[in-house]
Formats: sequence, C-alpha cells, structure tokens
Amino acid sequence: MLGLLLVTGNLQSASAGDRELGQYLSSECVTCHQTTGKAVEGVPPIVGWPEDQFEAVMNAYKDKQRENPVMQNIAGRLKAEDIAALATYFRELR
Ligand code: HEC
Repeated sequence: MLGLLLVTGNLQSASAGDRELGQYLSSECVTCHQTTGKAVEGVPPIVGWPEDQFEAVMNAYKDKQRENPVMQNIAGRLKAEDIAALATYFRELR
C-alpha cells in the first residue's frame, strides 16, 4: 500500500469528476484496493477503468444490484459527485 498516492502534477482532465476530491476520498478505498492494479486477497484492482464503467459498478453496489455488503455499505455513503470524482482519480492512477 505505498507510493502511488503521491501521483501529482497537472494532468489535464476532460472528465467531469473532481480529481482532488477523488484523491481525498480514495484514502478509504486503498486500505483494501491496491493502487498498482494488482488483485490482493480477493480484492480486485480498480485503477484504469473507463469512468462510466466505474460509476456504473459503484451505483450497482449502491442500489444493491451487486451483492458485496462491504462495497454496498461504502458506495451507499457516496454521493454521485463523490463517485464521479473517484472514477476520475482511479482512472488516471496507472
Ligand atoms: C474493506 C475493504 C474495501 C474497501 C475499504 C473498499 N473496497 Fe471496493 N471492493 C472490496 C471487495 C472485497 C470487492 C469485491 C466485491 C465483489 O466481489 O463484488 C470490491 C469491489 C470493488 C469494485 C468492483 C471491482 C470489480 O472488478 O468488479 C469497485 C469499483 C470498488 N470496489 C471500488 C471501491 C471504492 C471506490 C472504494 C472507496 C470509496 C472501495 N472500493 C473501498 C473491498 C473494499
């Protein structure tokens, strides 16, 4: 769980999500998800996804169409703008 949180710089983003908010919110996510794109102990990688797919998956947890209780709980606390911000942040992490 190291290092890549410090990805900095002035990446131009054409996307809707607020990248800095995403980085802030990601601190919770990366206690389980690797920032390296590797799966670890049953936790899948979440970096480099197209934003629309990332948002669709998060909304599926939020709406309880996907079963995982941990992710349902986490996604249930996030607003749409939070999910968009996370989608932007994690897409660029690679
Ligand atoms: C307590 C550990 C934990 C935390 C914290 C956590 N996740 Fe997860 N996440 C998981 C596990 C386990 C899965 C696999 C669940 C499943 O099989 O549906 C998962 C699945 C996902 C998936 C779907 C991946 C796929 O390939 O289908 C996404 C996207 C995701 N998490 C995003 C997030 C985001 C964004 C956060 C922070 C807001 C977060 N997670 C926080 C454990 C965690």
